Amino acid sequence: MKFATKPWAEPYKIKVVEPLKVTSAEDRKKYIQEAGYNTFLLRSEDVYIDLLTDSGTNAMSDYQWAGLMLGDEAYAGSKNFYNLEANVKKYYGYKYLVPTHQGRGAENMLSQCLIKKGQYVPGNMYFTTTRLHQELAGGTFVDVIVDEAHDPQNQSAFKGNVCLQKFEDLIKKVGGENIAYITVGATVNMAGGQPVSMENIKAVNAMAHQHGIKVVLDATRAMENAYYIQQKEAGYANKSIAEILKEFASYSDAATMSGKKDLLVNIGGFVAVNDREVFEELRNMVVIYEGLHTYGGLAGRDMEAMARGIEEAVRDENIAARVNQVAYLGNLLDEYNIPMVKPFGGHAIFLDAKRFYEHIPQSQYPAQALAANLYVNSGVRGMERGIVSAGRNKETGEEHMPNLELVRLTMPRRVYTQAHLDLVAYSVAEVYENRHSAKGLKMIYEPKYLRFFQALFETV
Ligand code: F0G
Repeated sequence: MKFATKPWAEPYKIKVVEPLKVTSAEDRKKYIQEAGYNTFLLRSEDVYIDLLTDSGTNAMSDYQWAGLMLGDEAYAGSKNFYNLEANVKKYYGYKYLVPTHQGRGAENMLSQCLIKKGQYVPGNMYFTTTRLHQELAGGTFVDVIVDEAHDPQNQSAFKGNVCLQKFEDLIKKVGGENIAYITVGATVNMAGGQPVSMENIKAVNAMAHQHGIKVVLDATRAMENAYYIQQKEAGYANKSIAEILKEFASYSDAATMSGKKDLLVNIGGFVAVNDREVFEELRNMVVIYEGLHTYGGLAGRDMEAMARGIEEAVRDENIAARVNQVAYLGNLLDEYNIPMVKPFGGHAIFLDAKRFYEHIPQSQYPAQALAANLYVNSGVRGMERGIVSAGRNKETGEEHMPNLELVRLTMPRRVYTQAHLDLVAYSVAEVYENRHSAKGLKMIYEPKYLRFFQALFETV
């Protein structure tokens, strides 16, 4: 018998397909050079299997596509807004909702609304856009994630947890009144998609509230986080993802959301809060940056697709297939002894470029080089998540030197088959076999904000 355990399978079948262009290694060498060795600057039609991101790259269901036809494109009071509001209340539990075009629109407004210049904003590792908006609002980000998160080989189940000691030390040092709020990202993208336990967010909530500090959940992949709690935390095995998600969100005062991930859409986000005054300020602010408070930069049809996406995504079988598809790729790569972040993340496999390219120093951007080489090998596109993504210290201008120097192979939801993933694993293994001849990179153009999106490189 081939199977030791019962295999999982997707809880959906394919109705529409999008043909892929096949390119040669010669072509791809030219394309990546023209793109300055930055996978963000490739044309998508030149990519064969696109694992750049799971953001906005999801396949929608027939139920969601049908919802597009029911778009109420009124400037004010669209019925799709009310459907979305009802589902956010039902599944996340927050009282008030302001839609935004995507996650960073929500981050911008909440940061401006809650951060006073000079305040600190602790968080369980940074996310690029989240930290930048906190800094632009005059805040200083402080990493309070557990130490294990910075170690790709540490196998703890909840490597996304906030270190309560670090949080308490910060409160003692600067005083609760100088902390705008604490951000809890779940799962933690930059740590490799690592989850936060229920016990941890509960304790964070208690400590924060004792000092008058708000808890803001980055709910972008909180459904995937709920799956890990169901699978790994004592007492949750018999609870549904929906129940766990709602309990988890109940330990926060507000949430920013990139609907382009968990919620199975191509565009959309929101900020949700429980505090009436904060809501009123956000509702007023949204008209400056995004659009009226009943559409927030989205078409009515997009809000409908997101409202329906919440209902679908939260089903247990959906999240199980999602996370297990990522693990399928991880397990294949393990057979080739590829260095990766463990445990596997919910949305992506993260290759450990420091161990992959031991001979390339971090100052020569090994993860950036690996992402480029993987593309040339097979047309598989991943993303750098290391020193380039980490950027510079806002005070000193020095490059941040993160412990984690990673290439992310991110799984769009419901898009690729196991055969695609077999090919990805094969290509990574081939690049690994040829690792000794790989060269580092030199940055030749560096944009001021979020440099990883547009920076240019050449080989050294
Ligand atoms: N928070 C997290 C944890 C994210 O992963 C992202 C986006 C955002 C916030 C911002 O949301 O893109 O809708 O404005 N992450 C994408 C990624 C870009 O590829 O991981 P957005």
